[in-house]
Amino acid sequence: MKPDASLTIALAKGRILDEALPVLAGAGIFPTQDPGTTRKLILATNLPHVRIIIVRATDVPTYVAYGAADLGIAGKDVLMEYNNNVVYEPLDLGIARCRMVLAGPKRTLQPVHGRLRVATKYVNTTRDYFAGQGRQVEIIRLYGSMELAPVLGLADYIVDLMDTGNTLKANGLVPLETIAEISSRVIVNKAAMKMKHDQIQPLLDKMALWKKGK
Ligand code: ATP
Ligand code: PRP
Repeated sequence: MKPDASLTIALAKGRILDEALPVLAGAGIFPTQDPGTTRKLILATNLPHVRIIIVRATDVPTYVAYGAADLGIAGKDVLMEYNNNVVYEPLDLGIARCRMVLAGPKRTLQPVHGRLRVATKYVNTTRDYFAGQGRQVEIIRLYGSMELAPVLGLADYIVDLMDTGNTLKANGLVPLETIAEISSRVIVNKAAMKMKHDQIQPLLDKMALWKKGK
């Protein structure tokens, strides 16, 4: 059987996109339309056998794990949360850097609810972090604007990403503990890595070179 020559790369709109496009350009891949503005979700590139799909940041590992995409670029925060080791993670691109932190009000409050309440969208990572320290917490899942939760008494603390610290500061919160250093990684479907090694490995090599020259 002739090996499948096509490659599908999953990218997320939002913060990672602006930093991911130069990585692809460094590997000689240019989308034929601007992924930041087009409503199309499947984009052709200058290479006839390579296409880009645009998905939610949190969905990149799912597309790659199931082989709907051969590779993708995803934040370590999303990968930690996905947490099932079913994709290869061969390259840390060092882009979209930030920290995952436990944050809370400037003046540390005693929990009013008995058990500490922590609001986050990183439910699995937060559970593992506190369990690893033998600390019991109640986790409240939110999907955004986590910084509001302590302000309104919904939670005592939050686990969220911090870069400049401006968002925490603007809401009267401070970082208390660093849970993980975050950057974006290239992830590869395990079967594709074997079946399409001749296409994927040179691409990874070029991306690694791009990183070195950055
Ligand atoms: P989704 O659309 O799936 O809900 P999202 O809204 O969190 O995801 P973005 O805010 O664009 O998507 O974030 C995408 C990725 O960018 C995150 O997974 C993280 O790795 C990185 N990131 C998020 N916030 C920052 C930040 N403040 N500084 C640097 N990188 C960040
Ligand atoms: C992320 C994160 C923080 C903010 C931190 O949110 O959730 O709110 O960035 O960055 P800073 O420390 O530089 O202020 P984002 O702006 O991506 O919005 P989101 O709520 O849609 O994730």
